[in-house]
Amino acid sequence: MDAISLLKQDHRNVAGLVEQFEKTGGKAFKTKGTLIGKLTVELVRHMAVEEQLFYPMARERLGDEGEHMTLEALEEHHLVKVLLKELEGMEPTSERYEAKVTVLKDVFEHHVHEEEEQLFPMAQKKLTKTELAELGERLEAKKKTAPSRPDPYASDVPTRRRPAAERGRITATAAAARTTKTGRGTKTTVAGKRTTTTAAKSSASRSRPKKR
Ligand SMILES: [Fe+2]
Ligand SMILES: [Fe+2]
Repeated sequence: MDAISLLKQDHRNVAGLVEQFEKTGGKAFKTKGTLIGKLTVELVRHMAVEEQLFYPMARERLGDEGEHMTLEALEEHHLVKVLLKELEGMEPTSERYEAKVTVLKDVFEHHVHEEEEQLFPMAQKKLTKTELAELGERLEAKKKTAPSRPDPYASDVPTRRRPAAERGRITATAAAARTTKTGRGTKTTVAGKRTTTTAAKSSASRSRPKKR
């Protein structure tokens, strides 16, 4: 599944759980708690993979507008995590529980609207179908190990270097440019794959500090 379809599917799953919550009777507190538990896992994983893979791509590839939208999106994720964390520590019988879910729904819907109407279409314009498919595969794989409990104060940007696939894409592009210029290089690949281009190898070795 391509990245955009996968992220939209996550949005639908969360919206479905909110809808179920709203249809649940006023005194069915156990069911309400179970639904919010499922929603928390689904939403926290979704936000984590966006933060680790999709947003870094947006900041790198979608220009100033992509950067601006992503920074706002991170703040909205933060608010969502605060609300989820508070819900996690509350009994569904609390008089504040339902009101908190309502506010969560409002923030979530606003956020989804901006992603689906602005950020995702920008990505669909800038990235090729192959790149979106590869990003989708990586998002799907990342979801399997992504955190499922909300932590509003944990880092929400990648702590390591750009993902290997992204590095490969840039390297391949740079190597292709060099190959055209110098005639060196043997092979370039599509986004997401490492290149074995001679120019890329020599570039990589140049960037490594020499052992003494
Ligand atoms: Fe999203
Ligand atoms: Fe998001």
